Amino acid sequence: MKSLTDGYKLSNGVEIPCIGFGTWQTPNGDVAVSSVFGALEAGYRHIDTAQMYGNEESVGIAVKKSGIDRSEIFITTKLSNSVRGYRQTLDAVEQSLKKLDTAYIDLFLIHWPNPVKFRDRWQEANAETWRALEELYDAGRIRSIGISNFRPHHIEELMKTAKIAPMVNQIRLCPGDTQDEVVDYCRARGMLLEAYSPLGVGKIFEVPEMRKLAEKYGKSVAQICIRWSLQRGYLPLPKSVTPSRIRENTEVFDFELSPEDVRLIADMKGVVGYAADPDTTNF
Ligand SMILES: NC(=O)c1ccc[n+]([C@@H]2O[C@H](COP(=O)([O-])OP(=O)(O)OC[C@H]3O[C@@H](n4cnc5c(N)ncnc54)[C@H](OP(=O)(O)O)[C@@H]3O)[C@@H](O)[C@H]2O)c1
Repeated sequence: MKSLTDGYKLSNGVEIPCIGFGTWQTPNGDVAVSSVFGALEAGYRHIDTAQMYGNEESVGIAVKKSGIDRSEIFITTKLSNSVRGYRQTLDAVEQSLKKLDTAYIDLFLIHWPNPVKFRDRWQEANAETWRALEELYDAGRIRSIGISNFRPHHIEELMKTAKIAPMVNQIRLCPGDTQDEVVDYCRARGMLLEAYSPLGVGKIFEVPEMRKLAEKYGKSVAQICIRWSLQRGYLPLPKSVTPSRIRENTEVFDFELSPEDVRLIADMKGVVGYAADPDTTNF
């Protein structure tokens, strides 16, 4: 990868720019519009939002305001935990299309495999939802479909009825939290791994070993994390609402971490905690 517009190729041939701009906890309205607009100005061409973030409208406004051709921007959104089922999913995607003010979504994910609301029947709930997503994919309303926070047992279950395999699994991947079992399982099935919370939701900045590495390479801790993510073959999704950081997080193509340092960062077990267990979350 040499620049923000270089991409990974998904299993269906769709190109996805190698760094996505995160928007979780970015308030809808001015903050979301200006940060997404700023990201597009800084060169990002991939925006990651979700129905549950409540800021799809702002993403849509920022994309329009940028004046960049829609075909050059990759937009991901995700199904709310309150929605499952065939009809309900068709309606929910329609709502996302309206809010994003777009004719199609580049990547649509099931956000969590086992929401509290469907805990007694998540298997059928996901199967029905997936059937709707496959139909929307076939109709060209969604260019690629995937999952998020799914573990192998959730994927096994989904594949019992799926006609199309997920192209992406978006999971928490950051220094010391590499979810090797999930990653190996997904890679063996041709899924791209997207790395959410690549900066440990900001906690990584307190880790002294990371500061030492930053000094060694003459880069910032955030840049080390994002570079590490790319060298591991993940697609990182850094989030920021701060203009200088939005730019800083793009300057990761002018250096390379040694294989020893890539391993060192992976081995910082639990420095910024671990991914939540999707079968016991309370949302
Ligand atoms: N699928 C899922 O379930 C899921 C879950 C979590 C996240 N995600 C996605 O992944 C994205 C990223 O994850 P995240 O939002 O959890 O956290 P993150 O990107 O790991 O960290 C974001 C935090 O780091 C700060 N930051 C960013 N760049 C910085 C820099 N260069 N220097 C210092 N501080 C910096 C940000 O502050 P400021 O914003 O104040 O600048 C913010 O507090 C999300 O926004 C979302 O799109 C998905």
